[in-house]
Amino acid sequence: MRIIIAKDYEDMSQKAANIFNREITKKPNIVLGLATGGTPERFYELLVQAYKNRLTDWSKVTTFNLDEYIGITKTHKLSYHTYMKEKLFSKINIAKENINLPNAQGDITKNGQTYDQLIAKKGGIDIQLLGIGENAHIAFNEPGSEQDAPTREVTLTKSTIEANSRYFDSIKDVPKTAITMGIGSILKAKKIILIAEGIKKAEAIKNTISGPISEKIPSSFLRTHKDVTLIIDEKAASLIEK
Ligand code: PGA
Repeated sequence: MRIIIAKDYEDMSQKAANIFNREITKKPNIVLGLATGGTPERFYELLVQAYKNRLTDWSKVTTFNLDEYIGITKTHKLSYHTYMKEKLFSKINIAKENINLPNAQGDITKNGQTYDQLIAKKGGIDIQLLGIGENAHIAFNEPGSEQDAPTREVTLTKSTIEANSRYFDSIKDVPKTAITMGIGSILKAKKIILIAEGIKKAEAIKNTISGPISEKIPSSFLRTHKDVTLIIDEKAASLIEK
């Protein structure tokens, strides 16, 4: 596991965006794994900036997002479909048919299987972006998730619901379940970049790096992968054991 300590949020975002922009240029038909949340907001602005400056071309790029809430529609203002459309997809020349997010409507077990099969059919994810939860979840794989878990329905923990309530009018409005790519699905990506910033993530980062590899710390399973880079700011890095 490689660890890059960035000065601050801007530096973290730039370092991650530079890697993605470079990979898109190197492989025009690349398959990207994308994440939502507060952390990648500036990252997406930088990807859009590079596209507008004609440094990248998204016409052959395929994307797979990590997760989506169950119980709200795709067009809800806080769905991850809406997040991705607003922050990235409406601002670049990606082909609509190359955009993939887990389907949170209908038979979720079947949707999960179809999603994992589609990723495999596209040749697997070349580079996967991840954030991390305060409880060390990756995507919505909460503590207790298995290392080989597939894309499936999950129940969100109290800590995740509280963290995500900042976007909703009331904590009662936060969905309680979601469809998420599994840890097993994520670990199949060829390259993984995890970004984190702020003191709230410091404990999770410390445990990712030096805690036991265990279902209690879902992000610890990243240590079993051969190409993972953590790009974290100084605050998120502040509890790493020297
Ligand atoms: P955040 O979420 O970027 O909004 O902190 C990250 C996550 O929960 O994975």
